[in-house]
Amino acid sequence: MHSNTLPNASDSLRYTTPAIALHWLMAWLVLAAYFIGLGMGELPIGPERIQMVGWHKWLGVTIAYLWVLRVFWRASHQPPAQPAGTPRWQIGISHLVHLLLYILLIAIPLTGWLMSSAKGFTTNYFGLFDLPNLLDKDKALAHTLKEVHGFLANSLMALVVLHIAAAIKHQVIDKDNLMARMRMPRQGQ
Ligand code: HEM
Repeated sequence: MHSNTLPNASDSLRYTTPAIALHWLMAWLVLAAYFIGLGMGELPIGPERIQMVGWHKWLGVTIAYLWVLRVFWRASHQPPAQPAGTPRWQIGISHLVHLLLYILLIAIPLTGWLMSSAKGFTTNYFGLFDLPNLLDKDKALAHTLKEVHGFLANSLMALVVLHIAAAIKHQVIDKDNLMARMRMPRQGQ
């Protein structure tokens, strides 16, 4: 914003800077966790696989921490209003997709942690501390939790694709520049 102009009307249409930073940070961490998760399953048992699983868990636990921060922030800060004239059904669907994204973003790390506990592997965070084991060792349960974890992760990716498709539709078809709401402010803006 230039000092000699009135405040830019679009400023009130932006998410707050911490919300934007958390959105993009989590987006990249989730993609990394997902593709490492898929890749590590292909590796033979050995040091490389153990290293990948370690990174996967660090990423996943970090996502869970950030989720807590994000939900606190979201609960205490109003998101920008929808552009005037947005059909009610579109607002309804976008709210539903966002709610499901929030639910999956915590359900996936939790099922990962439960699965590791049931496998009998303690989850360590960056070599700093161990997370408590939530379950006793149970091979059959670990197997079920693995299926659930993978299914939820694939569901998350399907929703992410829908979410990105909606953002592109706004940009290309509606041309309402909705994506600017989630763009980090440039210095001085
Ligand atoms: C948003 C965060 C996460 C995402 C997107 C994610 C995604 C995935 C995916 C796609 C797989 C492969 C599933 C399959 O091959 O069927 C996987 C496997 C796995 N995940 Fe996660 N995960 C996340 C968080 C976590 C956390 C926090 C933990 C543990 C603390 C964890 C532990 C595991 C383990 C142990 C496996 C391997 C299971 C096996 O091959 O036996 N994940 N994850």
